[in-house]
Amino acid sequence: MFEYSKAPEAKLVSFASSYGHFINGKFTKPSNTYQTINPATEEVLSEISHGSAKDVDLAVKAARTAYEKTWSKLSGSERGKYLYRIARIMQERARELAVAETLNNGKPIKETRDFDVPTAISWFFYYAGWADKLEYAGLGSNPKSLGVAGQIIPWNFPLMMLAWKIAPALAAGNTVVLKPSETTPLTALLFAEICQQAELPAGVVNIVTGHGDTGAELVKHPDINKVAFTGSTQVGKIIAKAVAGTKKKLTLELGGKAANIVFDDAPIDQAIEGVVNGIFFNQGHVCCAGSRLLVQENIHDDFIKKLKRRMNSLRLGDPMDKNTDVGAINSKAQLEKIKGLVKKGVNEGGELWQPECKIPKNGFWFAPAIIDGVSPANTVAREEIFGPVLSVITFRTPAEAVTKANNTEYGLSAGIWTEKGSKMLKVADQLNAGVIWSNTFNQFDPTSPFGGFKESGYGREGGRQGLTAYLKGGH
Ligand code: NAI
Ligand code: MG
Repeated sequence: MFEYSKAPEAKLVSFASSYGHFINGKFTKPSNTYQTINPATEEVLSEISHGSAKDVDLAVKAARTAYEKTWSKLSGSERGKYLYRIARIMQERARELAVAETLNNGKPIKETRDFDVPTAISWFFYYAGWADKLEYAGLGSNPKSLGVAGQIIPWNFPLMMLAWKIAPALAAGNTVVLKPSETTPLTALLFAEICQQAELPAGVVNIVTGHGDTGAELVKHPDINKVAFTGSTQVGKIIAKAVAGTKKKLTLELGGKAANIVFDDAPIDQAIEGVVNGIFFNQGHVCCAGSRLLVQENIHDDFIKKLKRRMNSLRLGDPMDKNTDVGAINSKAQLEKIKGLVKKGVNEGGELWQPECKIPKNGFWFAPAIIDGVSPANTVAREEIFGPVLSVITFRTPAEAVTKANNTEYGLSAGIWTEKGSKMLKVADQLNAGVIWSNTFNQFDPTSPFGGFKESGYGREGGRQGLTAYLKGGH
């Protein structure tokens, strides 16, 4: 590999030494705090408040009052103005947000700078445009908002998940209480400052930080009208049970085990890039990651040889360096989970290969990995690893590819690589996945609905469909 000189981004952000919750337009006094760290160095970045039932209740009350007294009384175009203002302030503070996300999450700065932050902003711009056009959302001429939404998000795309949740909720006329992940609260707290800067009416957006129990308090609060959750299938099931029998609406965006199918007539070099992007983007901490490579048997050896060559050029290391491709694993717990599943995969007959990488001394790291020769029964063919690990499976015919791709509890995304348009359409038609990419992977756009089937959850985020989740009469 060529040597590069270091190219670190400047630390263009300063965090408060501790944060309270953001309730009714103000930060509360920090209490019951825990430390949030940089997973690449284990350095403490700030102290975060662990929200109690009382904090959640105060936030829901603020959101209810803001809904009744202010937000539901504004016209759509007025709500839209606030969303545009938030989007523009995010643009002004884009570099700061990117640095904050990289420091708290461990993902490479080139991803936060070029993907996470611009995508989050695009969601606000897109839904700002919808705020005064709700009668075109497909739910009749005068669709009504729900009220207060409780929103719980994970650590893999902290700011982007916040945008996916808050932008459509506000555009549709709801107020929100959002709980970010315990390991990545900092960009949500910077976003709270942005709401203040935008002079968003107090209580429209409330942010309560904390662990799973804080999320559980939010889910069970009697005065919320909607729960929106992104995270593990395991917690999704707990939430579905807690919401069952209440009048609360629910959308769940859960795990995945996507097949990235490469046919022998695919543009091979492009497919290599797509497979690499599909699983090593964001260290594989992606619900729609292409974590199962289904490669046609007759090109298997050549494809894997080329894939290994490409993987040898991936740079693992300091996420703040602009040349870094693979950053840190978000937490020690996640690293342990990845290691455990990879060990199982090898014990069950998979062949592990990893390029030689210099692993930094501090922080949590896992070198990009492929596990070849994976049988359909192998744990690494079935369970979401949520790490930079690709399971390789072969197939002979398109029908076998479809059967193997669909042989999963999940149904979030899939990829198809072939030069033949007719084959691509036929295979796409037979795959049980909410999102299917062809000759590309991991593309996101606010106009396009995203969501899953089966254990990947229900409801759609993005597009016109994403609005219906926050309006009466929608799912
Ligand atoms: P998680 O599902 O426990 O956490 C997601 C969010 O839910 C966090 O904000 C958490 O505080 C909250 N939460 C946890 N328990 C809750 C409860 N009982 N009620 C309400 N909210 C609750 O995910 P975690 O522990 O971070 O990761 C575990 C595994 O889940 C990962 O290894 C990965 O496989 C998978 N995962 C999948 C994601 C996806 O987008 N598909 C996102 C995050 C994790
Ligand atoms: Mg958990």
